[in-house]
Amino acid sequence: MATNPLENKNQAWSALFSEPMSDLVKRYTASVFFDKRLWQADIQGSLAHAEMLCAQGIISAQDLADIQRGMAHIRQEIEAGTFEWKLELEDVHLNIEARLTQLVGDAGKRLHTGRSRNDQVATDVRLWLRGEIDQLLPLLRHMQGSLVELAAEHAHTIMPGYTHLQVAQPVSFAHHLLAYVEMFHRDEQRLIEVRRRVNTLPLGAAALAGTSYRLDRERVARTLGFDSVCRNSLDAVSDRDFAIEFTGFAALVMMHVSRISEEIIIWMNQNFGFVDLADRYCTGSSIMPQKRNPDVAELARGKTARVYGHLNALLVLMKGQPLTYNKDNQEDKEPLFDTVDTVRDTLRIMAEMVQGIQVKREAMERAALRGYATATDLADYLVKKGLPFRDAHEVVAHAVKTAIGRGLDLSALSLNELQAFDARIGDDVHDVLSLAGSLQARQVLGGTAPVRVLEEVQRHRQRLNPA
Ligand code: ARG
Repeated sequence: MATNPLENKNQAWSALFSEPMSDLVKRYTASVFFDKRLWQADIQGSLAHAEMLCAQGIISAQDLADIQRGMAHIRQEIEAGTFEWKLELEDVHLNIEARLTQLVGDAGKRLHTGRSRNDQVATDVRLWLRGEIDQLLPLLRHMQGSLVELAAEHAHTIMPGYTHLQVAQPVSFAHHLLAYVEMFHRDEQRLIEVRRRVNTLPLGAAALAGTSYRLDRERVARTLGFDSVCRNSLDAVSDRDFAIEFTGFAALVMMHVSRISEEIIIWMNQNFGFVDLADRYCTGSSIMPQKRNPDVAELARGKTARVYGHLNALLVLMKGQPLTYNKDNQEDKEPLFDTVDTVRDTLRIMAEMVQGIQVKREAMERAALRGYATATDLADYLVKKGLPFRDAHEVVAHAVKTAIGRGLDLSALSLNELQAFDARIGDDVHDVLSLAGSLQARQVLGGTAPVRVLEEVQRHRQRLNPA
């Protein structure tokens, strides 16, 4: 039975070391209990490397066959939960390699030829992240789809549009939802961009300087589906900006999720009462029997904080590192893993929750009527009758003041009363003062008029469900 140098980790790293690592140091430096999550990528990367080594005549066909057989066995063990992960073996890479050597002998020891854990781990993280991105993209699209389908029903549902959280102008609920679709669409585009830069192969950089073996890096890239090969070995092993960029994407998408969550929470407040959430997304109170709380939306808003924290952690992790690889980089994994988990779960649950939103049209409309939301429409009306806009603004301010004094909406003032503010006001004014008329008027591209909004719904549908 061949000896397996990796198995000696209990004693010391290599013949160079005269004493074993202390238990505390072992635990402090080990990453296996979190980076074992990379096992599939690790095996995939090793197999591609081994195939290339064989094709280049660096290892024999028999070695390759042994490695493939051993890896198939390891894969089964891990899937069955019988693989024994060892703290002494530090990380996912050494655990798998040690087991391989245990299973197939010398071929296992040849696998690491022309490779270092530095380019190996960078490859694994990129492969893994690419896979996660490919699962996030459909979720992001699903989120958009949920919003678009809800919007499709509400091009004529009128709510107050706000600035400063004060009633500003009437908009349709659909228009409001489609604003978020635009945001999530930009997030999707960003993620596609990030994927391109994630999908670059570090393997072949070895420890830092490249290797003297005649590796065919392009072949490995093709096998693993990488779009390109990292062009500088020093950069290849030390760069983590792909992870930072991904987390930047995640921070933005969570920011958007957090904003819509905040709105849902406000809309559900009794003083608004614009929407209700399905019971399955709410929780009760252990003391107040009447309570139904929007916990899911609150948690989505809350979880945004941890993703911002991860982005900050990764940025700070990298800022002081001299080239090239430093063990600091091992700290990239937990923030990155948690970012992926948080974004995935959040998108999934939010997309579902949006589908369960019940819209209370009357409450939305009542709120829009209360805030003099059509004052701008009256001013625009006067402008069309020849008054300069600034003067019209002033006239309407007087009208609103009077209406407030009498506790009425502008539309409730009679024609005579309105004409007292400006004689140009005619009997067509009440069309302008209605909420529907106000929406109808805003037919500019990107405006809230139902005709424009429904066009946008169609555009998004076509984009999201290409035939
Ligand atoms: N577990 C290490 C990491 O995550 C793998 C690379 C270790 N390389 C080294 N030279 N110690 O970064």
